[in-house]
Amino acid sequence: MVKPQAVIQVEDLAYTVNGRPVLRGVSLSVQEGEIVSIMGPSGCGKTTFLKCLAGLLRPTRGHIYLEGRDIVGLSEEELNQVRRHLGLVFQYAALFDSLTVAENIAFPLRRFTRLSEAEIAARVREKLALVGLEGIENYMPAELSGGMRKRVGLARALAAEPRIILYDEPTSGLDPISAANIDALIVGMRDRLRVTSVIVSHHIQDIFRISDRVAMLHGGKFIALGTPAEMETSTDPVVQQFITASAEGPLTDVEINHAGHDRV
Ligand SMILES: Nc1ncnc2c1ncn2[C@@H]1O[C@H](COP(=O)(O)OP(=O)(O)O)[C@@H](O)[C@H]1O
Ligand SMILES: [Mg+2]
Repeated sequence: MVKPQAVIQVEDLAYTVNGRPVLRGVSLSVQEGEIVSIMGPSGCGKTTFLKCLAGLLRPTRGHIYLEGRDIVGLSEEELNQVRRHLGLVFQYAALFDSLTVAENIAFPLRRFTRLSEAEIAARVREKLALVGLEGIENYMPAELSGGMRKRVGLARALAAEPRIILYDEPTSGLDPISAANIDALIVGMRDRLRVTSVIVSHHIQDIFRISDRVAMLHGGKFIALGTPAEMETSTDPVVQQFITASAEGPLTDVEINHAGHDRV
């Protein structure tokens, strides 16, 4: 089935783990060059959603079209071809500890491209410069700070120049300046290369500054989806509580109910 209109088209996606529905039918269209962010309380299924998009989890129901191709039901080999065009910046996508920084960044290039060694070295240098880490090719991951490791992970995700990049908490644990640099990179790739991005983050202010549209995931559904301005003026009490980070409101009540339910 071909659906050419959006770079990412998610239709009625559901995911259930151990009999518990995490995603209950979510739909989303992302156009080329768009930055769409997903926000929501911890445990609401944001990472699960991204993992489904990356073909790392198999949905219970629904369709995920990436550049027109439904990835649900593809074989592992077919999914590997799809992943060539995806950059994954995942929270726990660790670097390979036994490989140097350069070897880590070169990994997807060796796997997915036929670039020569000289071209690979040039690409590694270029991506390190892009994330502000020139000249650290020969370091081992253990020698780097957490923030540097995160940026090397980003350089690795960008190495094969993917057209779609999925970010899971790309700035969590970073100091404000490093976080702003990552935000600027995400926007820069959209503006220069028309890269399409889906970002999961709990940094509301950053999300609202850099996103074209924002979706709020709650109770396994997108309860709101719109531009940052539309979300800010949303009258939905759950959205309002979340974006104003209020301790009291419907979200807190639901969270307590969920926690209680989970213990049973
Ligand atoms: N492999 C798993 N086994 C059991 N439960 C899981 C698994 N992965 C995720 N979950 C549950 O699914 C829910 C959503 O998790 P997750 O997508 O990581 O949320 P978020 O990224 O929004 O914090 C959580 O309640 C979590 O406990
Ligand atoms: Mg998560």
